[in-house]
Amino acid sequence: MATFVKASVPAGARTLEGRWFLSPEVFAAEQERIFAREWICVAREEQVAEPGQYVVVSVAGESLILTRGLSGEIHAFYNVCRHRGTRICEDGSGRFAGSIQCPYHAWTYGIDGALKAARNMQDVAGFSVADYGLKRVAAARWEGFVFVCLAEQPAAFDEAFAPLLGRFARWNIAALRTARTIRYELQCNWKLVVQNYSECYHCPLVHPQLERLSPSDSGRNDLDEGPFLGGYSELRARGTSLTTSGHSGRAPVGSVDGADLDRVYYYAIFPSMLLSLHPDYVMVHTLHPLAPDRTAIDCSWLFDPSEMSKADFDPSDAVDFWDMTNRQDWDVNERTQRGIASRSYEPGPYSNAEGLLAAFDRHYRSVMR
Ligand code: FES
Ligand code: FE
Repeated sequence: MATFVKASVPAGARTLEGRWFLSPEVFAAEQERIFAREWICVAREEQVAEPGQYVVVSVAGESLILTRGLSGEIHAFYNVCRHRGTRICEDGSGRFAGSIQCPYHAWTYGIDGALKAARNMQDVAGFSVADYGLKRVAAARWEGFVFVCLAEQPAAFDEAFAPLLGRFARWNIAALRTARTIRYELQCNWKLVVQNYSECYHCPLVHPQLERLSPSDSGRNDLDEGPFLGGYSELRARGTSLTTSGHSGRAPVGSVDGADLDRVYYYAIFPSMLLSLHPDYVMVHTLHPLAPDRTAIDCSWLFDPSEMSKADFDPSDAVDFWDMTNRQDWDVNERTQRGIASRSYEPGPYSNAEGLLAAFDRHYRSVMR
């Protein structure tokens, strides 16, 4: 059983210096050292449910094709033709009819990325289709999420994610389906979003509606060091959830029972995934850093398919509650970015409610060193 404690804050712990949020050089270094090296969540498996279905995703400035192979495996390829480098697929999603064809000169690849046909190239001395398959990126699946890793020698996913494997089995997240996704664009650094997510010191002021349902001082953590940080906050009353009404007519997801009915669990999964487990639904944010002061965020709400198949299924009580709460957070995150950009900004002291932020900074600095 996990032990939950209040994450401690080392004496003298302060926020990061301004350059970590402002500097284009830091941003470029993050893209290399973090986003091009770590396992990054890019999709739900349901987005590529059938063989040949694909979605174009981007990581560390790279466009990637994510598709499902004929035997159910998931492939990720650089979206770059091996002839003259043309981007093969436009952004978006679709379904390949048996092959992947470059629109420029019709080089044609299998769903497995192997080059199958290249017009007139048989006349070229030394050319062999075997040498020009699409360049592959490592892909892994966990709880119905698809992760990719651009590293030439990726860490084994199961080792990198060992602390999380099986941890959320009670929610049966792999079986859940996405009811809604909203994309937000923020004028702030991605790390401010993770840090804001990792404390509820701000909740009484910024989220009066959330505070009414879940006390801001009830947070306890079972992961308070390293790449995965989080724990739970309590709901004020059994049978409630984080919804506009404070109630839920939905059955608990998976086998959620007992104390988990009284809690919402929040985990920041380094670097860019925020996973929020409610008794009756799961919410996930994925962050896409665009510039030092710009971040796109996809927020998705996942529900049990048996609830979704009901004629009166309506996710809007959960979606609207968090859309409001998200926007409250985005506002303070953007204000923080603007303040940090001041020449007067200097690192400030963390409160005792911000232990996970100090832990995030420690991990971040160790990766960036
Ligand atoms: Fe793709 Fe020529 S660039 S076929
Ligand atoms: Fe918040």
